[in-house]
Amino acid sequence: MMRMLQGQVAVVTGGAGGIGEAICRGLAGAGCAVVVGYNSSQGPAQALVDSLPAVDLPHAALKAPVTDSAALAVLATEVQARYGRCDILVNCAGTTRFVAHPDLDGLDNSLIDQILTTNVRGPFAAVRALKPLLAAPRAEGGTGLVVNISSIAAVSAMGSNIMYCASKAALDNMTKSLARALAPQIRVLSVSPGLADTDFVKSLDPAWRNEQAGRTPLQRLALPEEVAAAVLAAATHLTFTTGAVIPVDGGRPLA
Ligand SMILES: NC(=O)c1ccc[n+]([C@@H]2O[C@H](COP(=O)([O-])OP(=O)(O)OC[C@H]3O[C@@H](n4cnc5c(N)ncnc54)[C@H](OP(=O)(O)O)[C@@H]3O)[C@@H](O)[C@H]2O)c1
Repeated sequence: MMRMLQGQVAVVTGGAGGIGEAICRGLAGAGCAVVVGYNSSQGPAQALVDSLPAVDLPHAALKAPVTDSAALAVLATEVQARYGRCDILVNCAGTTRFVAHPDLDGLDNSLIDQILTTNVRGPFAAVRALKPLLAAPRAEGGTGLVVNISSIAAVSAMGSNIMYCASKAALDNMTKSLARALAPQIRVLSVSPGLADTDFVKSLDPAWRNEQAGRTPLQRLALPEEVAAAVLAAATHLTFTTGAVIPVDGGRPLA
């Protein structure tokens, strides 16, 4: 992948999170200028920018609160002013909280609204804001690219709570509608990880984590770098693929 994305610009929402960081590192390693989008994590986002390998254009940490469409419009204006282009949008921002599926009262309306606003409306709003840049013609040819970070919870209906699973199913469905609506200028894909070995997951009960790994045919959890590799593949190699959901799950739904 060395420098295959040289001269391109990527915006990664949730860029300072566990999976987002690996995606930012992967894109920068491929020569892409990366906008690390943050909501509350300005310090970690800037620290990540400072640690990324230098490419032709400067990396940047910019505010990208996906529930605030006015702020996303400001982000798009800033990306236009700094770079004059945006080739890749990775919708990695997401939220959830553990609520056992039978506990319907525990899944209260404010948590439902927060999950749906962040995980479903958020990616749509980010695409809407950056669409003019993503769709703009490029001298070197090629399409714009949106990668939505989904989850196998979308198909397994097993995950941190019922609405989180539903939000990722909605995201995968939206990937298909957007792929049709935005072709041929922009490709839209989902990358769908199984449980990934982020610091957060490492901090959970090790017995539970090991059980999840044991239920996975490949007998381990996904590495954030493996999720990032699927995003990179979408950008560099899967150039005739759109509207698809790419699993990075070690075969978990087979078990
Ligand atoms: N970890 C897993 O096992 C796993 C498995 C499958 C799918 N996923 C998906 O992968 C993505 C990243 O997850 P992660 O594990 O890396 O989680 P994480 O470390 O908790 O990161 C979540 C990121 O989302 C951002 N975010 C939350 N609310 C936001 C908002 N309103 N506006 C903008 N950004 C917001 C956070 O930004 P700030 O910190 O700046 O607030 C943070 O960077 C999520 O979409 C998640 O659903 C994760």
